[in-house]
Amino acid sequence: MEWGRIAVFASGTGSNFAALVQAQREGRLGGGSIELLVSDKPEAPVAQRAEEAGIPALLLRPKDFAGREQYEAAIVAELQRRNIGLVVLAGYMRLISPVLLAPYAGRIINIHPSLLPAFAGKDAIGQALEYGVKLTGVTVHFVDGGMDTGPVIAQRSVEVQSGDTAESLAARIHQVEYALYPEVVSAFAAGKVELNGRMTTIAE
Ligand code: GRF
Repeated sequence: MEWGRIAVFASGTGSNFAALVQAQREGRLGGGSIELLVSDKPEAPVAQRAEEAGIPALLLRPKDFAGREQYEAAIVAELQRRNIGLVVLAGYMRLISPVLLAPYAGRIINIHPSLLPAFAGKDAIGQALEYGVKLTGVTVHFVDGGMDTGPVIAQRSVEVQSGDTAESLAARIHQVEYALYPEVVSAFAAGKVELNGRMTTIAE
């Protein structure tokens, strides 16, 4: 498995997918190369983006499989066929089971729009606004079997401004995501990320 051979998983809009593709085009993904899009929603806009970018897509509906294990086994087969070494979740709205976690241990990462462990799960931006925090942000973390519970790799903060709506705050958070995720993916592609217990270090 090569760290630089990347599959992006996404279920929706795919703006982070697009930002990663753009980063690769601009030489900001280090040795990273996006080899595959995986989506559980064949009709999602992200599938169209992959087509436009000329990136192969594996579009599978989980309900067409006997269960989650069979669905993920089909994905793992394709990842292994393409020698994928890093799985990058970008708005992939499913928990991952051991069928995918075991062969890709330490090789699956996710981006979440809050400073974890605050506001895990759905609608993190809405949760932050409702709570009234002054500072929120973006977290990139390893994926484990839980919901946004894996070790943190990188975090960046975003100030909540008075008068912010979910839309205005989301727009600033997304801009930070588009910058941070390519940086982290590039560090992985260069083999610079190390995990000890829950403590991650990124080598210079
Ligand atoms: C992002 O905010 C990401 O942090 C979260 O889901 C959203 C995906 O947005 N996990 P997009 O599909 O990349 O536009």
